[in-house]
Amino acid sequence: KRFLQLVGSATLVTWIVGGAAFYYVAFKERTPGEQLPHDPSKKNLVILGSGWGATSLLNTLDTTEFNVYVISPRNYFLFTPLLPSVAVGTLGPRSVIQPTRYVTRHKARQVAVIEAAATDVDPVNKTVTFSDTSEVQGLVSSTTLKFDYLVYAVGAETQTFNIPGVRENACFMKELDDAEKMQRRFLDCLESAAFPGQSQEEQKRLLHMVVVGGGPTGVELSGEIHDFLEEDLRSWYPELANNVRITLVEALPSVLPSFSKQLIDYTESTFKEAKIDILTKTMVKEIKEKSVILQGPDGVKREVPCGMVVWAAGNTLRKVTKDLMAKLPEHQTNRRGLSVDEYLRLLGSDKSIFALGDCTATSYAPTAQVASQQGAYLAKILNKVARRDHLLHELTQIQVQLASLPEGTPESAELLKQKERLSKELVKAEKLKPFKYSHQGSLAYIGSEKAIADLPFSSGGNLAVGGVATYLFWRSAYLSKCFSLRNRTLVASDWIKVKLFGRDVSRES
Ligand code: FAD
Ligand code: NAI
Repeated sequence: KRFLQLVGSATLVTWIVGGAAFYYVAFKERTPGEQLPHDPSKKNLVILGSGWGATSLLNTLDTTEFNVYVISPRNYFLFTPLLPSVAVGTLGPRSVIQPTRYVTRHKARQVAVIEAAATDVDPVNKTVTFSDTSEVQGLVSSTTLKFDYLVYAVGAETQTFNIPGVRENACFMKELDDAEKMQRRFLDCLESAAFPGQSQEEQKRLLHMVVVGGGPTGVELSGEIHDFLEEDLRSWYPELANNVRITLVEALPSVLPSFSKQLIDYTESTFKEAKIDILTKTMVKEIKEKSVILQGPDGVKREVPCGMVVWAAGNTLRKVTKDLMAKLPEHQTNRRGLSVDEYLRLLGSDKSIFALGDCTATSYAPTAQVASQQGAYLAKILNKVARRDHLLHELTQIQVQLASLPEGTPESAELLKQKERLSKELVKAEKLKPFKYSHQGSLAYIGSEKAIADLPFSSGGNLAVGGVATYLFWRSAYLSKCFSLRNRTLVASDWIKVKLFGRDVSRES
C-alpha cells in the first residue's frame, strides 16, 4: 500500500513539474521581450529565404552586431519532411509551419521580416531588389536595399525538364499550397468518381493516382496516399476504394537511388504488398488533362488515363539564382547551383555574400539536414565576422589617436598595448573553421506504418533498417526536429486526432 502511495505521489509530482515546465516553455515562446532597435552604425545583414538554411541561421545568430533583414515570399518556415502528411490530411497545414516572426522576435536586436521575393542581386554594388508578390499590395511593392553582408538561401524550385503539360496539369509537392492543392484534387477525383452514372472506365481513370519521381518525396507521398486509402477511404467510400490505384513512375532502374540496396528492396516489396505499382525505367513524356504519356524500357510510348498526377521529379535553380550566376560568369560555372568556398562564401564575390542549401552546388545532397547544419555554421561565422569588424573599427580608432600623440608618452604606450592586445584578438577572429557536414543518416516513411533508415556509425559502416520500429523512430526523430514546442504539440495532437477519428475527407473548395 505504501509502495502504491509512493508511486502515486511520484506520478503526481511528475505531472505537476512536467506541466509547469511545458507551460513555462510555451509562455516563453509566445511572449517575446524588448529588442534593441536597428542601429545605423551597425552593418546590414540581409538574409534571403525563410527555409531550412535561413531559419537555422536565424536561430543561432547573435543579432546584436547587425541590422538584420529577412526577405522571403513566405513569412514562415515550412517543415518539409512532413509535407506529404499534409497532402493526405494526416497533419494540418498550420502544424508544419512556424511564422518567421516567432523566431526573429526573440532575437536581441530587431530583425525586419519582409514578405517579398528577391528579383535581383547585384554583387558589385551590394544591393538586393525585391518585390511584394502576394495578392494584396500597397503603394510601394518593389524596392532596393543595400547590404554589407548577404546570406543567399532561396532554395530551389521543382524541376519540370520543360516536359509538356507538367505545369498545367500536375500537382507539385514543394510548398504548403502544393500539398493543400493535392488534397483538394484527390478528394475531387473521389467525389467525381462517385457521381451518379459515371461509367466503370471513367471511375477507374478518376481513381488512378500517378506519382512521378521515385526519390524520397515520391516514395513518401505514395506511402501516405496508400495509408489514406486503407485507413479512411475504405470506410467512407467503400464502393470506390477497390478501384483506387497508385502508380509510382521512376526513370531510373530503381526507386530511392540514394538508399542502400537492402532498403530499396524492402521498399519495393512493401509497395508490392500495399498494391502500389512501381514502374521503373519509365519516363513521363507528357502530362495531359486526363492522362500521362509514359515511355517504358522498350522505348514504346503509351497513354495511361489518370485522375491526378503529382510531380516530384527533383530540383532546379530559381531564376534569381541563375541571374546571379550570370553576373559572375568566371566563377559560377556549375549548372547545378552556386559555387561556394569551404566557408560558404560565394565564389567571385568579395567575401560579403554567403550561400547555402539547395541553391548551392556542393558535394552534399540537397537536404534539410545539410541546409540546417550550414545555417548553424554560418551563424557562428557571422558572429566571428561581426567580432572582426568590431576589432578592426577599434584598431582604426587607436591608429587615429596614436597619430595625434607624440611618441613615448604614457598615453601612447597604453594605446600601443591596447593595439597589441586587439591585434591578437583579430588574428583569432580571422581564423575560420571550414564547414564540415556531419551526416546523421537518412530516414523515409514508406507507408503501412513502416519507415526505412540508413544510419551511419561513427566508426564507419552503416545500419540499414526498415519496419514498424523504424517508423516509431521516424516519428520521434521528426517530432524532436520540429522547430518549437508549439509545432511539436500541434504535430503530436494531429497524430492522436487521426488515430482516434481518422482523416477528414471533406473537400475544401
Ligand atoms: P528551402 O527550405 O526551400 O527555403 C528556401 C526559402 O527561400 C523559402 O523560404 C522560400 O520561400 C524562399 N525563397 C524562394 N524564392 C525566393 C526569392 N526570390 N527571394 C527570397 N526568398 C525566396 N530533406 C531532408 O533532409 N529530410 C527530409 O525528410 C526531407 N523531406 C522533404 C520532403 C519534401 C516534400 C521536400 C520537398 C523536401 C524534403 N527535404 C528533406 C529536402 C529539404 O526540404 C531541402 O533540402 C531544404 O528545404 C533546403 O533548404 P533551403 O534553406 O536551401 O531551401
Ligand atoms: P529526387 O531528385 O531525389 O528524385 C526525383 C526522381 O525523379 C529521380 O529519381 C528522377 O530519376 C525521377 N525523374 C525525373 N524526371 C522523371 C520523368 N520524366 N519520369 C520519371 N521519373 C523522373 O527528388 P526528391 O525526391 O524531390 O528529393 C529532393 C531532395 O530532397 C533529395 O536530396 C532528397 O534526398 C531530399 N529529400 C529527402 C527526404 C528524406 O530524407 N526522407 C524526403 C524528401 C526529399
